[in-house]
Amino acid sequence: MDCDNGISNKSGNRPFQDVLKARLSRRNVLAKGMILSAAGFATALVGNKALVQAASATTGQEASTTSTVGSGATIAQAGGLVNFESVAIANGSGPVPTISEDYEYQVLIPWGSTLDGSAGGYGGDPNTRPTAEEQKNLIGIGHDGMWLFPIGDGNDHGMLAINHEFGVNTHVLGKPDPTSLEDVRLSQHAHGVSVIEIKKIGGKWQPVKSNNARRIHVNTDVTFSGPAAGHPLLDNPAGNSPQGTVNNCAYGKTPWGTYLTCEENFHGYFGDATGTWTPTDAQDRYGFSTDGFGYGWQNFDPRFDLSNSDYVNENHRFGWVVEIDPMDATQTPVKRTAMGRFKHEGAEITVGRGGRVVAYMGDDERFDYIYKFVSESNWRSMRARGISPLDRGKLYVAKFNDDGTGEWLELTIDNPILSAQFSNQGELLVNTRLAADTLGATPMDRPEWATVSDFNGKVYFALTNNSQRTMPDAPNPLAPNPDGHILEIDDNARFTGTTFKWDIFILAQDTRGTEGVFTDPDGMWADPDGRLFIETDGGQPDGLNNQLLVVDISTGEIRRLFTGVFEDEITGLTVTPDRRTLFINTQHPGDGDPTVTNFPANQGSGKVPRDSTIVIRRKDGGIVGS
Ligand code: FEO
Ligand code: CA
Ligand code: CA
Repeated sequence: MDCDNGISNKSGNRPFQDVLKARLSRRNVLAKGMILSAAGFATALVGNKALVQAASATTGQEASTTSTVGSGATIAQAGGLVNFESVAIANGSGPVPTISEDYEYQVLIPWGSTLDGSAGGYGGDPNTRPTAEEQKNLIGIGHDGMWLFPIGDGNDHGMLAINHEFGVNTHVLGKPDPTSLEDVRLSQHAHGVSVIEIKKIGGKWQPVKSNNARRIHVNTDVTFSGPAAGHPLLDNPAGNSPQGTVNNCAYGKTPWGTYLTCEENFHGYFGDATGTWTPTDAQDRYGFSTDGFGYGWQNFDPRFDLSNSDYVNENHRFGWVVEIDPMDATQTPVKRTAMGRFKHEGAEITVGRGGRVVAYMGDDERFDYIYKFVSESNWRSMRARGISPLDRGKLYVAKFNDDGTGEWLELTIDNPILSAQFSNQGELLVNTRLAADTLGATPMDRPEWATVSDFNGKVYFALTNNSQRTMPDAPNPLAPNPDGHILEIDDNARFTGTTFKWDIFILAQDTRGTEGVFTDPDGMWADPDGRLFIETDGGQPDGLNNQLLVVDISTGEIRRLFTGVFEDEITGLTVTPDRRTLFINTQHPGDGDPTVTNFPANQGSGKVPRDSTIVIRRKDGGIVGS
C-alpha cells in the first residue's frame, strides 16, 4: 500500500550538524562512478560503483569481459547471476502482466477463492459480493507478505501463509461506505491472513483440503505476550477480549517454523463516530484521525470508535508483530509486544551471534524509524525453557551518523531518560514511537521491507519515497525524494551489536534514463547467491506498471523479470526450498476498477479485478532470478 499520508513525527529529530555538506560529499563519491548507459543496456548505481550490463540487445552476443569504465565502474561480466531476458520498458504496461520470455506464470488464489481449491467462492461478478459469513472462509484481499512453509521437501507442497493488507470499500463492498454492520464485517473478514495448503499437481499449483488451513481476520481471537501483555493500556472498560489483526503488510519467518504478520496502517481503521473525540498526544503521533482511511468501521463497530470510552484502549491493541503457527489451525495468534508498537512493515529475522534471533523492522511513515529486536539469548535454549525468543530481548531504534556509521539505541525503561517519560516497559512499548523520538532516532524516508543477504551478510532496507523531505541528510540524501532508495547496512558483531556501518546501495533516481529504471522500492528478498529481488509500489517511470526486478548485488546488473497490471502493486515474495518456483502478488489490480483491468479474468469480461498470487518459474526449470 502506497500510504503517502500525513506526517505524525513532529519530534524534530535532525541529528546531523552539516547535512548538506555530508550529502554533497557523499553524492560526489557516488557520482564518480556514474557512466552513461549503452543503448538498451541496464545501468545501475550500486554502492560507489556504476555498472553497465553489456547485454545482447543489439549484437546478440553476451559481453564476456569485465573492464573498468570511468572511476570505479565496471562492465558486468556475462554469465553472471542475472541472465534472463529483461522485460523491455515498452512492454511493461497494460491490463495484464508481462513476464520475461524466459519465464512463465500461473495465477493462484485470487481474492474470494475457496481455501481448499473447491468450486465456489467469489469470482469477480461486479453485481455481487461475498456475504460477510462467506468471506470468513474465503481468501482475503490485499495480498501482501507471505511465506511458504515446506511439507516434505517443500518443492511441490507446503503451507502458504499470506497477508491480506487492505481493500478499499469500493473494491470489497462495491460502494464507498458501509451501510450496515454486515458491510463492516465483510470488510473485516477480507482483511487479515490466510493459511492454506498448496500443492503442485499436474504442473500447476493449487490449494488442497487441509486440517491446518484457516482464515485469521479482524474478529479472530488473539492473545498478547511479552512485556506489555496484561498492561492496563491493553484493557478496555468494556472487558472485551483481544481480537483481530489488521493491515497485515509484510512478514517474517522464524527459525522454529512460525509466520509473523506485521500490522502496518492500523490507525486508518479507527474513526470518531460521534464527533466528540480529542486525540491524545500518543494518538496524534500514531496518526489517528476522525475518519481514518474512510473504512467507516467506527459507525457500526464500537471497537473502532475512538470516541467510545468503553473501548478507549482498543487502538493500543494494533500495531504489533503477530506470530502464527502455519501448521496448527488451533493455535491462537500471539501479538509479540517486545517487538514494539508502530506501523510495522515487516520483521526480517536472522540468527545472529550466540544463536540470538534478530529482527529488522521498518516503521513505514514519512520520517519514521528503523528498528531491530535482539532476543535475550540463544533461541533454541530459550524455547527449550518454554520462553519465546520474541518475548524477551532488546528493542533498538536506529540513529544514522553522517560518516557512514550508526548506533542502535535501546528502548528500555532502564534508561533514565525513558523512565522519566514512562512508568514501565509495557507503557513504553505501547508508545514505542514516542520513546524513539526521545532518544533521537533518525527520521527516514518511509522504511519498508528489510532483507538480510546470506551472500554477504549485509542488511538491505527499502526507503520507498518521501515527497515531503525538505532537509536532506546522509542516509536520506534527496529532498524531496520521490523515487526512493535502498540502504545497505553492515550490522557489526553478527547482527547483535549496538553499532553499525551503512551505505547507500542504490538511489532509484539514478536508474532513470536506463533500461533498468524503477522507483518506489518496497518488497525485497536477497537470495543466497547474491541476487536482490526488488518489488515496487508507486507510479513507475516511462509508463511502466509496478514491477519485479532482480539485481546482482556484486555487479549492479539489473533486469526486469515481471510487470503487473495497471494500478497494481507488486509485493510479497516467497520461494520453494529449491528456488525453482517463485511466488509474488499483484495487490489492488486496477485499484479494483473493472474498467481498468479484469485481471485475472479475461479482458472484456467485466469482472472485478482481484488481488492474486502469481506463481513464476523459469521455462527451463532453473533457479528463479537467474
Ligand atoms: Fe504495507 Fe509500507 O507497505
Ligand atoms: Ca509501499
Ligand atoms: Ca509495502
